[in-house]
Amino acid sequence: MTERIVLAYSGGLDTSVAIGWIGEATGAEVIAVAVDVGQGGESLETIRQRALGCGAVEAYVADASDEFANEYCMPTLKANGLYQGHYPLVSAISRPVIVKHLVKAAREFGATTVAHGCTGKGNDQVRFEVGIQTLGPDLKCIAPVRDLALTRDKAIAFAEEKGLPIETTKKNPYSIDQNVWGRAVETGYLEDIWNAPTKDIYDYTATPEFPPAPDEVIISFEAGIPVAIDGVKVTPLQAIKELNRRAGVQGVGRIDVVEDRLVGIKSREIYEAPGAMALMTAHKHLEDITVEREQARFKATVGQRWAELVYDGQWFSPLKRSLDAFIEDTQKYVSGDIRMTLHGGQAIVNGRRSETSLYDFNLATYDTGDTFDQSMARGFIELWGMSAKVASGRDIRVAGQ
Ligand code: ARG
Repeated sequence: MTERIVLAYSGGLDTSVAIGWIGEATGAEVIAVAVDVGQGGESLETIRQRALGCGAVEAYVADASDEFANEYCMPTLKANGLYQGHYPLVSAISRPVIVKHLVKAAREFGATTVAHGCTGKGNDQVRFEVGIQTLGPDLKCIAPVRDLALTRDKAIAFAEEKGLPIETTKKNPYSIDQNVWGRAVETGYLEDIWNAPTKDIYDYTATPEFPPAPDEVIISFEAGIPVAIDGVKVTPLQAIKELNRRAGVQGVGRIDVVEDRLVGIKSREIYEAPGAMALMTAHKHLEDITVEREQARFKATVGQRWAELVYDGQWFSPLKRSLDAFIEDTQKYVSGDIRMTLHGGQAIVNGRRSETSLYDFNLATYDTGDTFDQSMARGFIELWGMSAKVASGRDIRVAGQ
């Protein structure tokens, strides 16, 4: 029987050419797998037809947008997952859901190998292949760009020679990856890290310098998940989309960073994640009133480690799973409403309320009604400073000898 390979298919030039390229190089039949993670653009049916037109023997399309929002974006929100304190893991969290569908399709169509369009210089190859190793340890991996010398020039020549139903003249200098959680843009002019991004780079956000009137929004959460916006019930996917729109027009969530790739390269990336950043800001402020101090401090460390694991392609790893369990436990009381103003590139929280809040007005107030016994503070400070005071006495004694 002819060998079968499932290919992660985007509908773009490189993966369209990869169908025939893999076929010629390996003699295998190619099954194209397109996964909708809310990237917008063409319909899944258009993409499916193109895959078949480019020589795929089968085309599997999956609408995974709710699955992606529920099982990948929401855990990122609960973790306040920002790699290097900046990047909300847009591409990093989409790979594992795509991997799930690739493995599923491989089983369905009896494929032995999984192919993806990544280069050999990025993180995404690692995320795909580590994910596949974990979910389908018997499956092999191949990357035509990396392993079968499929360069851009060759791709264009191949598409023209074979008359593939794909645009080859549109020249986009940027490499773009996008989904409902955000958008990542790199290469071209941006590789000079002194160059400021130009306006044409952005798509999810409008220029924050000329914002429309301020937009006040109330986001309601239950156990760390957004459940309503301005009192209207929403699913996680709807919450992200609605805030992409409202925070996007205000220019919220533009991020310009030089980040540390797993493969050891520092690279410049421009992100725009209006919905994700607005939600994360709101979520963090709700945690500030509902999560106990020590748990909150520790969670910040856990969230950072979680983001590194996810960035590094360890979504399906045991440590990531254990950290998920911790994070989930912290979210039990993260319920309530956050009021925030979206304006001029910022999402600023200006009100919060929660039935499960730890904020105690009577303890906090400086006005009458104060129930805090200030006389307790003196003894507390004495004991709190004792250890350092004893050590400093020793330092003086030793220095004087
Ligand atoms: N640097 C980001 C990451 O590794 C995004 C990569 C997305 N690719 C792109 N073509 N912009 O997660």
